[in-house]
Amino acid sequence: MADKYTRKEFLKLSGAAVGAGLFSTSIAGSIANAQSSDLLHRTIHSSGEMIPAVGLGTAQTFGDLNEDFMARRNTIETLFQEGGTVIDTAPTYRDAEIVVGRALDELGARDKCFLATKTSLRDNAESKQAGIDQNTQSFADLKTNKFDLLQVHNHRGTDVHLETIHEMKQDGRVRYAGLTHSNSRLNDAAVPVIESGRLDFMQVHYNVFDSSADERVLPAALDNGVAVMINLPFARGRVFQATAGMEIPEWAKDFGVDTWGKFFLKWVIGHPAVTVAIPGTIFPHHVVDNIGALRGRLPTQAERDRMKQFVLDL
Ligand SMILES: NC(=O)c1ccc[n+]([C@@H]2O[C@H](COP(=O)([O-])OP(=O)(O)OC[C@H]3O[C@@H](n4cnc5c(N)ncnc54)[C@H](OP(=O)(O)O)[C@@H]3O)[C@@H](O)[C@H]2O)c1
Repeated sequence: MADKYTRKEFLKLSGAAVGAGLFSTSIAGSIANAQSSDLLHRTIHSSGEMIPAVGLGTAQTFGDLNEDFMARRNTIETLFQEGGTVIDTAPTYRDAEIVVGRALDELGARDKCFLATKTSLRDNAESKQAGIDQNTQSFADLKTNKFDLLQVHNHRGTDVHLETIHEMKQDGRVRYAGLTHSNSRLNDAAVPVIESGRLDFMQVHYNVFDSSADERVLPAALDNGVAVMINLPFARGRVFQATAGMEIPEWAKDFGVDTWGKFFLKWVIGHPAVTVAIPGTIFPHHVVDNIGALRGRLPTQAERDRMKQFVLDL
C-alpha cells in the first residue's frame, strides 16, 4: 500500500478516514473509525458525508414495469434493511426509474436512499433543454424533488449538462455532480473532467477482468478529491461464470470471504479510491451477500494482486 500510493494520496486517504484492512495495524489504528455501523463506509471528499461502500445498480434487471414489481420492491427493501443506501439508475434503463420511484414511495424510504440518476441522451446529446426535459421527467418518475447525485451518462454532452447540474446544485435540487462511463476507451477523456473541479463523483467500470481505471482514472480521482462509484463490479456476471462450481480459496477466508460475490466486491472496494460499488441484482439474497462484503477487513494490495491473478489464471 505505502509503496503503491503517493504520500499525497495516502494523506487524502487518511483524511477521508477510510476503514478496514488496507493499512498495517499501526497505521490503521491512527485513522478515525469510518463506520457509523458495522459496515464499511467511505467518505465523499467534497462534503465529508459518508456512505456505505456497496449499493445497488438497476440497469439490467429493474427495467420492465410489467415484470414482478414486488420482487424488485423486496430487493430495494432488503438493501435498506441490510444497511445499504445507494441506488444508481437512469432514465434510459427502460422503466427502472418508475420502478425505483414507486418502490421508494411505497416503502416510505426516499429519505433512507442515496439516489443517483443520470442525464442520458443519445439523440440531441448536446441540447441543454433536452437534458432539462429529461431531468424533469426523472424527478416525476422517481417521485422526488431532489437527486443525491446527477451524472452525465457516458460523456454525452458533458460540458452542457454539467452546467445544468451545477445550476441545479445551486437551486438545491441536486446534491452532487457526476460523470459516468463503462468503456475503457473513455478513460483518458475522463481525466481532464476529473481535474476540472466540476465533479463530486466519477462513475467508472472496474472489475478483475477490466481494471483499466487503475491506470489514470482512479489515481486522478484520488488526487483531485473526487468520489468514485464503480459500475460493472461483476463484469455483468462474467466473474461468476469464470468461478462457477469452484470453492473459495482458503487464503481468501482470512479477510472474510465466504462467497464469490464478497470475493469480487472486496477486491473492488479494496482500492482506496473507490467510494461505492453498485452491483446490479434482482435478488434480495444477493443484496444480503453484496452488503456483506462491507463486514470484516479488506484485502491488502498484495492480497488483491493474488485475487486477480487467481481469477485470470482460471
Ligand atoms: N455507463 C454507465 O453509467 C453504466 C454502465 C453499466 C452499468 N452501470 C450501473 O452499474 C450497475 C451494475 O452493472 P450491471 O448490473 O450491468 O453488472 P454487474 O453489477 O457487474 O453484474 C450484475 C450481475 O451479477 C449478478 N449478481 C449480483 N450480485 C450477485 C451475487 N452476490 N452473487 C452472484 N451473482 C450476483 C447479477 O445476477 P442476479 O440478478 O441473478 O443477482 C447480474 O447478472 C448497473 O446496474 C448500473 O446501475 C452504469
